[in-house]
Amino acid sequence: MLFGRLLGPAEIEVDDAAVDLGGAKMGERNYILTETAADAESARLTLLERLFDPATVRRLERLDVAAGARCLEVGAGRGSIARWLVGRVFPGGRVVAADIDCRHLGGLPQDIEVRTLDIRTDTPEPDAFDLVHCRALLMHLPDPLDALRRMTAVLRPGGVLLAEEGDHGLHVYSGHPDAPWLTELTHRVFAGLASAKIMNAYLGRSLPGMLTAAGLELAGGEIDSGVARSGEPAFEFERRTAEAAAPALIAAGLMTEAEDRRARAVRSAPATVMNTWSLVAAWGRRPN
Ligand SMILES: C[S@@+](CC[C@H](N)C(=O)[O-])C[C@H]1O[C@@H](n2cnc3c(N)ncnc32)[C@H](O)[C@@H]1O
Repeated sequence: MLFGRLLGPAEIEVDDAAVDLGGAKMGERNYILTETAADAESARLTLLERLFDPATVRRLERLDVAAGARCLEVGAGRGSIARWLVGRVFPGGRVVAADIDCRHLGGLPQDIEVRTLDIRTDTPEPDAFDLVHCRALLMHLPDPLDALRRMTAVLRPGGVLLAEEGDHGLHVYSGHPDAPWLTELTHRVFAGLASAKIMNAYLGRSLPGMLTAAGLELAGGEIDSGVARSGEPAFEFERRTAEAAAPALIAAGLMTEAEDRRARAVRSAPATVMNTWSLVAAWGRRPN
């Protein structure tokens, strides 16, 4: 299936057998950036927090997360939202920060329970939380609806799930002679990642429907997007993500070394401009 219909890239069939790393199909592997050096991944996650925390916090404030609430953050990354939740729900509340890779969750306040969890297979305790939050997580999972169902099951009746996921449908480069080429390459790689079930770069648009399919009553939604020049935080986040993923993409046959070099040159040119990914937020309540 091709997800990039909004942009309309050419249909690209990717042979699953070509997307093979060290004997394991990439779709069976962990999160694609688990192998990234800890400091580089930490810097990338810091940028992500800087870009999206203000909107996430605004939404959580609107959802009226109050003292005493029990909260679960899945795919917690560096834990900035778990940290914010502690300030909000203590005393009397509970905050669990869960991730398949807890390398970046050291140094959080002791009040936060840090837990290693693979949401593809693990279900935390049922009916135990008033709020579940995830951001930029479901798009990395082979079966996001199954993960959403697991997260719904841990909510108490009446509890709220807030999910925020990327959609690269508007991700387009301009301002450089090679910008159309880089746009085409980017979406060709996304199509390959989708075929291999490693990442659905266009998942955001499906989020409201998926919440309903997971058994939640949809309560609201929003989309944030932007335009950024080379060097600006939103552009820098995409650049770091693309460059961190490049070795795995080359090894998997989704991109060549020459294409990677040409793409890096376009991204580093000061005149290059990018329509960033969109962050689609949707929230819903578990029926009583
Ligand atoms: C793009 S990062 C987003 C981090 C954080 N949610 C944020 O927005 O700042 C994706 C996170 O999901 C985690 N992750 C990926 N696959 C996972 C899985 N199967 N179960 C739990 N966490 C997972 C990664 O380790 C990473 O921390």
